[in-house]
Amino acid sequence: MVRVTVPIPGRSYDVVIGPGVIGELAEHLPELPHAVTAFVVADRSVSERWFEPLAIGLSERGLAPVLLTVPQGEDAKTLPVYGTLLHQLATQEAHRDDLVVALGGGAVGDLAGFVGSTYMRGMPFIQVPTTLTAQVDAAIGGKTAVNLPEGKNLVGTFAQPRLVLADVEILRTLPDRDYRSGLAEVAKYALTLDLELLAGLERDPGPVLTTQPEAMEDLVARCVAAKARTVAQDERDTGARLVLNYGHTLGHALERLEAFQGRSHGEAITIGMVFAAKLAEARGLASPGLAARSARLFRSLGLDTEGALPPADRVMAAFGLDKKYHGGVRFVLLEEVGNPVVVEDVPQEQVRRILEEMGAS
Ligand SMILES: NC(=O)c1ccc[n+]([C@@H]2O[C@H](COP(=O)([O-])OP(=O)(O)OC[C@H]3O[C@@H](n4cnc5c(N)ncnc54)[C@H](O)[C@@H]3O)[C@@H](O)[C@H]2O)c1
Ligand SMILES: [Zn+2]
Repeated sequence: MVRVTVPIPGRSYDVVIGPGVIGELAEHLPELPHAVTAFVVADRSVSERWFEPLAIGLSERGLAPVLLTVPQGEDAKTLPVYGTLLHQLATQEAHRDDLVVALGGGAVGDLAGFVGSTYMRGMPFIQVPTTLTAQVDAAIGGKTAVNLPEGKNLVGTFAQPRLVLADVEILRTLPDRDYRSGLAEVAKYALTLDLELLAGLERDPGPVLTTQPEAMEDLVARCVAAKARTVAQDERDTGARLVLNYGHTLGHALERLEAFQGRSHGEAITIGMVFAAKLAEARGLASPGLAARSARLFRSLGLDTEGALPPADRVMAAFGLDKKYHGGVRFVLLEEVGNPVVVEDVPQEQVRRILEEMGAS
């Protein structure tokens, strides 16, 4: 078991990582004076397997566990589902000292965090992430959200959980594609912030690909530590946290252009990181070889580095819609691995050339 603290002044909390930690909730949950009920938000496929072990730990701490079931995936992150949860809390006389537990992937985490941070102006909540993406990324850092029909994550809060319990054994039942999508975020941390992680993955991705428990514990702990460091410097996403968007400018544009029906998030940011590496080389920022090295890493993790791209004009128009838009397209680029920088004012022509080199018409 590994414990990583997210050191946000006044609101610091622990991320407990390891195989079987879901069964240790009672010992890790901080004191919650006056809490009576724990409202566990989960979709059916996750709650079927994992509600019970969690409920045992909650009961051990004197909390009555109540399951609130939500739809799977992005279908949960909507205002109607959010509203339904608020009504359920109100009719069950939830108190602002009670606990909300997010048990699931990033979608459930974002939704339950939003409920927890707004019902009665905010109640304590914890995250029990069950996908690799949620364990290494979504559950850490305190961004909560739901989507609107007009766009993703348009409503939400910054609110830190009291505890994150990342049980790496839960990841075994993840569909392969979801798992690999999470590995793309892992590769992002390795390339931008953790050279030891990068070296380990380049030496032998085998233990991670076979979800060997010790390898997974180490992998998740390293990514969590990287995110925790970054979040602590920039809780509200105004500077340092931009680095976490490596590969995401093109990644988000591809997801939007494919109407979230094409590449998964991880698949899209993989292409985005290949693009960023090529752009860094073309600008003379990084030495030649970065793009080839990145692509080798992605392929070794089962991530596709090629494939059809939408026309360059459409991609560039989509960049304009990026929420990081500040009057010009900004990219996180690498001077070398482990050394990310934010680059502004990249000429449109240069962006176009690289997109075309990657196969866009
Ligand atoms: N708040 C943040 O900082 C942040 C960061 C990254 C992503 N996100 C958000 O996270 C969401 C994506 O999260 P995700 O990739 O975890 O996907 P997800 O939450 O949509 O879950 C994907 C599917 O996996 C299933 N699932 C979950 N755990 C499982 C398990 N252990 N075994 C089998 N199936 C399981 C779920 O039922 C669901 O159908 C997006 O909405 C994104 O915006 C938020
Ligand atoms: Zn991401």
